[in-house]
Amino acid sequence: MVQDRAAAAVSEARQWARLMALAEIGGFAAGEDFGVNRPCLSVGDRAARRLMIGWAEAIGCSVSVDAAANLFFRREGRDPSLAPVLTGSHMDSQPEGGRFDGIWGVVAGLEALTALHDAGVVTRRAVELVAWTNEEGGRFRPGCTGSMPWAGHTALAAFAEVLDPDGIRYGDALAEQLALEADIPRRGLGAKGGITPHAYVEAHIEQGPILEAEGVDIGVVSGIQGSRWFTVTLSGATAHAGTAPLRGRLDAVQDMVRAVVALNALTADPSDTLRFTVARVEVSPNTSNSVANRVRFTIDLRHPDAAVLRAKGDAIEGVIRGAVTGCAVSIEENFHAMPVVFDPLVTGAVAASAAAEGLRQRALPSGAFHDAQFVVPVCPTGMIFVPSRGGISHNPAEYSSPAQLAAGARVLVRTLVTLAG
Ligand code: GLV
Ligand code: MN
Ligand code: MN
Repeated sequence: MVQDRAAAAVSEARQWARLMALAEIGGFAAGEDFGVNRPCLSVGDRAARRLMIGWAEAIGCSVSVDAAANLFFRREGRDPSLAPVLTGSHMDSQPEGGRFDGIWGVVAGLEALTALHDAGVVTRRAVELVAWTNEEGGRFRPGCTGSMPWAGHTALAAFAEVLDPDGIRYGDALAEQLALEADIPRRGLGAKGGITPHAYVEAHIEQGPILEAEGVDIGVVSGIQGSRWFTVTLSGATAHAGTAPLRGRLDAVQDMVRAVVALNALTADPSDTLRFTVARVEVSPNTSNSVANRVRFTIDLRHPDAAVLRAKGDAIEGVIRGAVTGCAVSIEENFHAMPVVFDPLVTGAVAASAAAEGLRQRALPSGAFHDAQFVVPVCPTGMIFVPSRGGISHNPAEYSSPAQLAAGARVLVRTLVTLAG
């Protein structure tokens, strides 16, 4: 069968070597581990994209980029008039990220295209690989600012004024990126550009403990839980730490503590299904002997049930207003990704591919969000997970072995051949 030939051409060593070459870009030693800090639209991101472009061109793929800087590699099919099958993931990392989150899905896609090339397999539909821009949201909040406009979920212009921690506008960083890639042909943005795929499949590390704990090789991802991000600003008044009486202060840090305690009560969940995280805090003026006049903090809220996510998220503002003692409160919602269920066309092809490889598989939902979440309304979508050691991710200790990743790439190429015909 043609799937067997394609899967047999997957090279564990080549895939691992490419992944480790990319990990060098933004790589840093962290004790025994080797982490990656490769923010989107940074010098490192640009270098990584050029490396990918070189590898893809070497196997005859055509390269194009859209207005959101999503980067596409196309391996033509027998009938170029048919909608392509799309695979991909993201190349940006968290500031203290690992070597596998996102980038493996892009490298696995390239490994699949290389295997098709080496095995001389020409599919009926074209197979396209995409590296989505800014999935992580680590530099520019929110994440998925490449896939959201591609899918028609949010206009690209909505993100133009987002600032990174150095005050650089997303719109400016994007324009600079596109100017540096002026040699690469442009394509229309997403479905609106006339490029609605036949199906989308994204390979990713699990980032959780289930597959490893159960001794399973492949996760057939059933869907993704919902996420909402908020930015809360508390405004008080600065004062002298030694002379201003506590009574009467408008202390933004103390009000933040009250707000977070109240939010912990709002989001308490004995089943540990709901996820509530406060992880970025900016304090002004940020000296130890002046009362804080302003605190800005982020909220990341996740739940698989849309009704719970909606109710808890909508309650946040009232809970914060009820908890603070004097500071003015302003809340902005930055990200809203509803829970999604993947399509049997894709999950079925993934399950059949894992079975053909003789791999142990199970269905599981994703706790992390992914660009695939936004592709769901556009075309049949699914994901392939491989195990993550200790379930660790967004951490330099993130690890999946060369053999686990090769198994994932073999399942991916089989799935692509099945979907592309
Ligand atoms: C993606 O990185 C996420 O936070 O789920
Ligand atoms: Mn990711
Ligand atoms: Mn991530």
